Amino acid sequence: MCIETLTVRTEIALSFRVFLSFDQLCEAIEVSMTMSNSFYGYSFILTFFMLLLHAWSQLTPNFYDKTCPNLQNIVRNEVQKAFNKENRMAASLLRLHFHDCFVNGCDGSVLLDVSGGEKFALSNRNSVRGFEVVDSIKSTVERACPGVVSCADILALVARDSVVVTRGPSWTVLLGRRDGFVSISLNGTDAALPSAFDTLDAIIDKFKRVGLDEKDVVSLSGSHTIGLARCAAFSNRLFNFENTGSPDSTMDPYLLYQLRKLCPEKGDQNKTTLLDQYTEGRGCINIFDNHYFQNLLDGESVLSSDQALLSSSKTSYWVQIYNDDNDRFLDDFADAMIRMGNISPPSGSRGQIRKNCRRVN
Ligand code: HEM
Repeated sequence: MCIETLTVRTEIALSFRVFLSFDQLCEAIEVSMTMSNSFYGYSFILTFFMLLLHAWSQLTPNFYDKTCPNLQNIVRNEVQKAFNKENRMAASLLRLHFHDCFVNGCDGSVLLDVSGGEKFALSNRNSVRGFEVVDSIKSTVERACPGVVSCADILALVARDSVVVTRGPSWTVLLGRRDGFVSISLNGTDAALPSAFDTLDAIIDKFKRVGLDEKDVVSLSGSHTIGLARCAAFSNRLFNFENTGSPDSTMDPYLLYQLRKLCPEKGDQNKTTLLDQYTEGRGCINIFDNHYFQNLLDGESVLSSDQALLSSSKTSYWVQIYNDDNDRFLDDFADAMIRMGNISPPSGSRGQIRKNCRRVN
């Protein structure tokens, strides 16, 4: 087979991509494999397969332009309403997208009500929130465009709008994800999600597994400029850090005093405090800026996983850069959110569009 024929055939094949199911494709490839035994034949099949996979995994900003033209306005209004009702909700919704994407890709699986599934893993139970808000947004979207928009895409839009509503950066959300069928086990979920008790190396490793690097670890940790943490997430630092019999020596003494008051030994582990302490307009949990990085440099971060960003030059380098330059932080954060939103989303003919985000259809 000559190269020209190869190109033409590949183009023809691509123009048919929307009509082929995965099974049909596999069958077609099998047939071609048995029919062709030449070098070009194999090259053709390989090119065909790779282009097809590429086309399948492409997300695009205008995916719903024809099928749900008002989608972005609907989601924006709903996020604003949820934020007006409870300011913290912006932070909670942003975190939901992160916890969705890190476990089995951005497939809406964190939303599934499956006993023994993701939602009930240690990293999520009593911690991740905002499910009712997502239900309500999904119902509004379903009324406008039934059966068209995935829960995974709603989470991606909601995360962006939550950042915007807290005066953070905006970005173009790529769309076309489909919803997965599977909710990963409790252990699988905890193994994939970074924990406040992980070492920096373990956190970097979990980011690398999903294609993100040290710079992304730092910029995305900047999300902790908004929202709250429970005593359960940081009380290990307050009295007997790493079995030393003493508190974490990297913590600012005044912050230590305050956090010990809030979370005494054997106290209520569900009490909460700001992740970004002493932020501008003290007590305001909603300004999305680089003040979080100042906290790290001052020993005023609440989670030991945050403070650990200073323990290696691979991450402390970025902490300093973002502390010095708010615009740089906001730009890099937005870029990293797009990359995070691209973590193996089911698209094309894989997955489904759930009617109810809590259940597979
Ligand atoms: C780098 C590794 C990370 C670790 C170890 C971590 C850990 C945590 C922990 C322990 C909490 C408090 C949970 C609780 O007390 O129940 C929290 C809250 C939060 N995290 Fe992270 N996180 C990380 C990265 C991220 C990323 C990548 C994002 C978003 C892109 C994010 C967004 C948030 C937000 C917004 C909150 C506050 C949620 C609320 O107030 O409801 N975090 N995180």
